[in-house]
Amino acid sequence: MGILYLADMHGKFPTLSPDLDKHNLVLLGDMVNNGTEYEYRKLGKWIESVKRPDRRIWVVRGNHDSGQLGNLVNDRALTIFDQLAWQTQTHTFADKKPQVVELDTGFMILLDSVARTISPHDYAQGEIGEPQLEELDSILSQLPPFTKTVVLHHDPLCADTTLLLKDAGRFIQTVQGRVDYVVYGHSHGETGCVSAGNTGYMKCGAVAEGAQAWLQDGRDWQMVRL
Ligand SMILES: [Fe+2]
Repeated sequence: MGILYLADMHGKFPTLSPDLDKHNLVLLGDMVNNGTEYEYRKLGKWIESVKRPDRRIWVVRGNHDSGQLGNLVNDRALTIFDQLAWQTQTHTFADKKPQVVELDTGFMILLDSVARTISPHDYAQGEIGEPQLEELDSILSQLPPFTKTVVLHHDPLCADTTLLLKDAGRFIQTVQGRVDYVVYGHSHGETGCVSAGNTGYMKCGAVAEGAQAWLQDGRDWQMVRL
């Protein structure tokens, strides 16, 4: 059983083909557009429809899950998200800490990259933040040498600086050569991969725009059409 990464659904929830329907799921954020209760109810229904006894589903939040138009983060949306995260992965991001998941093939570390924004001109770039980076650094120092995959919503490599994760430099310093894969969404466009040393940066395009998704099975990666 692999892991299928779905980024930026923006309320357009896919039907999974039988081939893909058997895998675990990671929802990479921007699952909805404005973080409203109505949208979350629709997302909750879709999540119920893809739940299986043997399937695990993990979620990280995106800027659009956290407030109006993806820019103005509000506490109500964060609270609803935390309830959703609790249902899917028995975890809350209220403390903005990394979550380590043990897999058959190694470890997955989920990060919360949503930053509090007070103006549309903040562009919802996202930020991991120094405390979370320090904790990630400490986790990476302690984990045994199995495959490590770090998952977050925001793009740490985007050429467009209005979409680039604010602390991308510090993040790359922390993970480069220490984790095998970084998986992210947010910037839409083509699904693809950039390798830097021992680390593969796996970008997931937007499901809402018909982009391909990444399917991971240990060290094997495959781009798949939904
Ligand atoms: Fe986003």
